[in-house]
This record gives sequence, structure tokens and C-alpha cells, in this order.
Amino acid sequence: CGIVGYIGKQRASAILLEGLKRLEYRGYDSAGVALLDDSGIEVMKKTGRVENVATIVNRRNSTAQIGISHTRWATHGGVTDANAHPHLSWDGRISIVHNGVIENHDALRRFLKGEGIEFVSQTDTEVLANLIAYHYARESLEGEGATRLIAAVRHSLRLIEGTYGIAVICTELPKDIVGARKGSPLCLGIGNGENLLASDVAAFVGRTQNVVYLDDGQICHLTADDFSITTVNEAEESVDPVISQIDWKIEQAELGAFTHYMEKEIFEQPMALENAMRGRFSDDESTSKFGGLNLDAREFRHVDRIVFLACGTAWHACLVAEYLIEKYARIPVEVEYASEFRYRNAPLDKNTLVFVISQSGETLDTLEALREAKRKGYRVLGITNGVGSTIARETDGGVYQHAGPEIGVASTKAFTSQVLIGGMLALHLGRMRDLSFSDGREMVKAFRSLPGLVSQVLGQAEQIKEIASRYTDYEDFLFLGRQSMFPIALEGALKLKEISYIHAEGYPAAEMKHGPIALISEKCPSVVLSPHGDTFSKVLSNIQETRARKGRVIAITSAGKDFPEEGADDVIHIPHAHDCVMPILATIPLQLLAYYIAVNRECDVDKPRNLAKSVTVE
Ligand code: G6P
Repeated sequence: CGIVGYIGKQRASAILLEGLKRLEYRGYDSAGVALLDDSGIEVMKKTGRVENVATIVNRRNSTAQIGISHTRWATHGGVTDANAHPHLSWDGRISIVHNGVIENHDALRRFLKGEGIEFVSQTDTEVLANLIAYHYARESLEGEGATRLIAAVRHSLRLIEGTYGIAVICTELPKDIVGARKGSPLCLGIGNGENLLASDVAAFVGRTQNVVYLDDGQICHLTADDFSITTVNEAEESVDPVISQIDWKIEQAELGAFTHYMEKEIFEQPMALENAMRGRFSDDESTSKFGGLNLDAREFRHVDRIVFLACGTAWHACLVAEYLIEKYARIPVEVEYASEFRYRNAPLDKNTLVFVISQSGETLDTLEALREAKRKGYRVLGITNGVGSTIARETDGGVYQHAGPEIGVASTKAFTSQVLIGGMLALHLGRMRDLSFSDGREMVKAFRSLPGLVSQVLGQAEQIKEIASRYTDYEDFLFLGRQSMFPIALEGALKLKEISYIHAEGYPAAEMKHGPIALISEKCPSVVLSPHGDTFSKVLSNIQETRARKGRVIAITSAGKDFPEEGADDVIHIPHAHDCVMPILATIPLQLLAYYIAVNRECDVDKPRNLAKSVTVE
């Protein structure tokens, strides 16, 4: 979900709505705004997109200069106007927006009901709103004005089990916003005569490039001209804020000439790959170097196992990294879903290095897996696109992707850049072991050629669009590949199902005969990744097995190499290049296929149903 709060001298409503639109990719079930002026707090909320609530807010034309707002991805309670945020306390004094889950909300609700407080929704957030209002109203609470509100928030948060990122306003305090975080991201945008509070810098980049990231267990207090941070705990320490600069510009998050962000991001891949490589090869072009890993060559030599943890698309990137690191560096690699690792209590050997991969750097499952690994004393490194994100801050070191903001919910440029960094790590580790100088040079050359090769594949977009038009009406798809192409098959299937709602499965091609072949019929086409290489002839047999059962086949194969005439119903050629870059090249047509099929099916490509880009709940 997304949070935006504003206090300053402008009309808050316009700034909040603009911020919400920029955060909409974090959730889009419902949205709401609470504005505070002399007449009190006015809450407007509506199911559906930000656009829906914007109509109501704009009609009101409020001149309020302070407000909080929210775009929701439902966890507790269905998608209804009442369950949308902001929530108001029973006495109308406190309004809050909240990300996260309050686990002991039932017990707290019982307590508050016992105190005579009535509830209008089933949400855990209303419990928190009422709890804060309850403390704020207590005579025994010390302090006046904002000090009193901060104390009420602090008291309430100490009673809460679960996670939160919150923004709070109070009728009596038209110049103050209070925020707090534990497990759900929150940051402050420090402006000129105005300050903002948001779950993500995307909400305010363009208004200000100055950001302060809140840490877990911290409360912040914002006025138009000032802000301060203290801790939630008994010590109530004041925190010295670190102001960082946001490293991307608002224009990078604009659509430009493209119809969808996903389309734009697919076509941005040559640049994203270039950015992931910049300054990261040795002078002799035989290996890669990473300034932020905080591990010297000697320490790397002692690593004898690597565990990768991630979710979703990033998990697929881990699977490719596994293949490349084992092949080129000969270090055993394991890949786990972050959500599974966290609860599995896996034994880790003392020379194990843990890597987490996360585009946003905020996925809670990944963050908790990282914390679990650290708790066990492991060194945890990260690959993330989220500069200043929680994962970036909590890892012991890592690599930034520098892919630029990714707005489309289905990940594209972030995935290929993660795969590239995985390959560059394989090279880095390989060169410390058995990979020769000349083999290293070959790999660097291949990586350097990638942006150009990816552009070549993108140049075939029209042909792929035309193929897509012939596959739009199927309801089932198989994606098949072997070795490093298997995770790409998984990713291709995920892209298609995420944005077009077509059921799709990825399989290792040879596994087909052990089950999935039962699905093959004229109603279930297959996309087969069959670039030239060790298993090419085997994959060709798999294609024949499919076609013999009337299954249509789209083959992705190497340009300039023999692919049997009439061997597939449709053939897409990708450049034939070094093995270490083939997974990236093979990904591009799959992204385009999924994109064009979804567009043909008139799906909401950038905001597919039920999904959110950044999932900060378990
Ligand atoms: C969500 C998104 C996926 C993404 C996953 C992990 O489920 O919808 O596209 O792959 O989270 O996100 P991360 O930011 O950690 O890479």
C-alpha cells in the first residue's frame, strides 16, 4: 500500500493526489484522503483507482494545507469504501493511514470496546486510530499540542504486535503530522517550507530530492518548516537525521511516448543493462568489480556455498545466478523462496554467504529472510534497485542495479539487470578461482555487447506483436527450457499469467514427458526456448513430441544457426552469443509476447488485478 502525507503552504489535496498516483503501483484496490482545516478533518475515500477518489476530492476544492492519504492493497477486510483508509477515531479527533498488519487487533478492539468505544469497520487500522485517540484523550497523559499527540502515538505503538508504517493527524493540531514505522517503509521528503511523509520516495520526487529514511522503531514529527525523529521505545531517544539525495529525476518516471510503463521499461533495457555495468569492470577487462560488497578477495575465497533468497521475479533471477555461478565459479549455490527460508530453520554452514535480491528493496518476506540470516550470524549481501531501501540499509553490503524507477507491476528491466549482475558476480567469483584471464575477457566482452544485442531483439517487436496476435485467445500455455533457459521459461510463464491472466506454467523441457505433456492439445501452445548449445537437439525432440500432439509451438532460437524448417509454428530469432548472456537475450521476446497478448486482451497491463508491485506484508 502507499502512504502520502503533506504539510506546507500549498493546497494539500493536489499534492496528495499526485503522490498517490505515483504510488498507485503499490496497491490500487481503493484510495482515500483526509484533509485538515479549521472545520476539522474531512475524510474522502473510495474503492477502485485513485482516479475515483480524485473526482470527489477535486469537487470539494478544499484549501487545507495539511493532509494524509493512502492507496490500498487489501489485507484485512474486503475492498469496500468503509475499509479504505484514512480511518477516523470514534471521537473524530484522530485520522490515520496505515500499512502493515496489527496482529493483536482483536484483543485491542475488545479492550477499547470495554472502554465504551464504538467501531465502524473490521479493520486493524481503525483499532489503531481509536487506540491513539484513547490515549490522547486520557487525563493522565502529559504534554500539550504535538508533544501530547506524539506521546499518544508512542503509547499506542508500544501495545501493538505486528507491523506498521503510519501517518497521523489530529483535529486540534493543524500544523503537525506524526508518522512511525516498524516493518513497513516510510520516508520524509524535506522541502522548502513544506514537508512530506511517504511510503516511497516516488510520491514526492520532483517536489524535493531530499529524503530521510525512517528506521524501524522510530517516530517522526513534521511541521511545514521542521521535522524531528525520536524512538518509540522507553528511552525515547532523539535521532540525528541523515538527509540523502534521491538519485533519479521525476522525468524518469514519466510515460513519454509509450502506452504503458511496462512497454517503456522493456524498451529501456539496453540502458538499464548499461547502467548495471558502468564502472564495474577491471581495467584489463578480465573481471568485474563491485565497490559495495564490503568483502575482500581473501574473504571471498573462503566462501564455499552461496544461498540466494528472493520472491517472485527476483527469485527467477536467483535461479539464473545459480546456474551461472556454479558454471563459471564452481561454488555450490542454493536458491530459496525468502518466505520459505524464514520459517524453515535451514542449517547454514559457516562459510556460507547469503544474497538477497529485491527490485524494490522493501519486500517484507525478503527483508525478514535477510534478518533471519543475520540473526544467525551470516553475512548477507543484497542486489537491489531500491537505493536507500530497507534491504539496502540492512544488508552488510551489496550491488545497486541502477535500472531507474520501475513502475509497471510486472518486472522487466529490473529482472534482466538482476540476471546481468548475477552473471557479473559469477565472473567475479570465477576469476578468484578457476576462470582464466582469457575466459574472463570473453565474458566481459559478452556483457559489454549486451545492450546492442538486446536492442536487436527489441527491433523485432513488430514481428513478435504479429505472432502475439495469433496467440491471444488461448487460455493455457506451457513455457519450456533447459539449463539456464529453465528459469527463463518460469519467468516467461509468470509474465504471461501476471498481465494477461492466461494460465501458464514453466517446465524444464525434458520434464514434459513426466506429466505436463498430458496438457498438450490444440488448445495449449508451448513457447520453447531452444537456443543453440549442449541441449539443442534434445529440446528439438521435445518440440516434436509437442507438435505430434497437435500443440502449437513458438520457438525462440539462435539467429544464424540451423533450426529445422517447419520445425515450429512460429520462430523468433535471438542473436547467438556467449552462454553467460543468453538468458537475458531469451527473456526479451517473452516479455514482448506477454505484453502484446495482454494488450490484445485489453488487460490493465501496468496494474494487473490482485497484484501490487511492492508487497510489504507477509
Ligand atoms: C511482488 C511483485 C513481483 C515481484 C515481487 C518481489 O510480488 O508483484 O513482480 O517480483 O513482489 O519484489 P522485489 O521488489 O522484492 O523484487
